[in-house]
Amino acid sequence: MPEPSREWISLYHVDKVYPPNQNALRNIDVKIQRGEFIFIAGASGAGKSTLLKLLFAEERATRGQVILLGRNVSSIAGEQVSGLRRSTGVIFQDYKLIHTRSVLDNVAFTLEVIGVRKRERHKLAYQMLNALGLKDRVDSLPMTLSGGEQQRVAIARALINRPQLILADEPTGNLDPDMTVAVFNLLLEANRCGATVIVASHNLSLIEEINKRTLVLDRGRLIGDFSHPRG
Ligand SMILES: Nc1ncnc2c1ncn2[C@@H]1O[C@H](COP(=O)(O)OP(=O)(O)OP(=O)(O)O)[C@@H](O)[C@H]1O
Ligand SMILES: [Mg+2]
Repeated sequence: MPEPSREWISLYHVDKVYPPNQNALRNIDVKIQRGEFIFIAGASGAGKSTLLKLLFAEERATRGQVILLGRNVSSIAGEQVSGLRRSTGVIFQDYKLIHTRSVLDNVAFTLEVIGVRKRERHKLAYQMLNALGLKDRVDSLPMTLSGGEQQRVAIARALINRPQLILADEPTGNLDPDMTVAVFNLLLEANRCGATVIVASHNLSLIEEINKRTLVLDRGRLIGDFSHPRG
């Protein structure tokens, strides 16, 4: 375990400009400690997804520095980026499910990569899918599922190998209130077990209810950092 004081995730004076001149993030300074649960709030186009993509090294900062899990992303090679990504579970707006493999295989695949035996990975994938209300769909192909069901498969896949860092972009955007609660219970449980969880959302009532640190973006600027929005 790294020292608690070790820099875990930090952004220093970060700008992101998409070519030719779309300013998505402006002068962002933020520090995130290991084990935090954080919301990123803000209107559509505020820069929430862009910020998450920087934290997954899917996009690089145009200016400034991004430190991820103690490493400066701008100075590490592709191989180390893969290492970082193995410690990270992502739930992004496009689910990137494998359409030729069953729901169960999509989830179990993450465990195959890290060498978990077939029986064990199928058992764990089944348990996770069951917790997300999908036990009757484990043998289906992703394309035959509704949008909300596909979203839950992506969530199961992101959480199954207990990543240290979980990045979730509107993870409950397609879900009904009961499923939203189920998903947040899983994210909160992962956080209690030590994962750092960062969730982008424009669902203000949900953010208020969960009452965790919230970063507010407005047209690319960080305009608020509230430790407990409800007080
Ligand atoms: N690949 C891209 N190329 C050019 N501009 C982009 C690209 N991706 C995002 N942008 C722009 O950057 C800004 C921030 O986009 P981003 O997707 O981060 O917003 P968001 O807060 O996630 O919005 P939403 O709530 O709608 O998902 C927007 O103005 C968007 O048009
Ligand atoms: Mg977005």
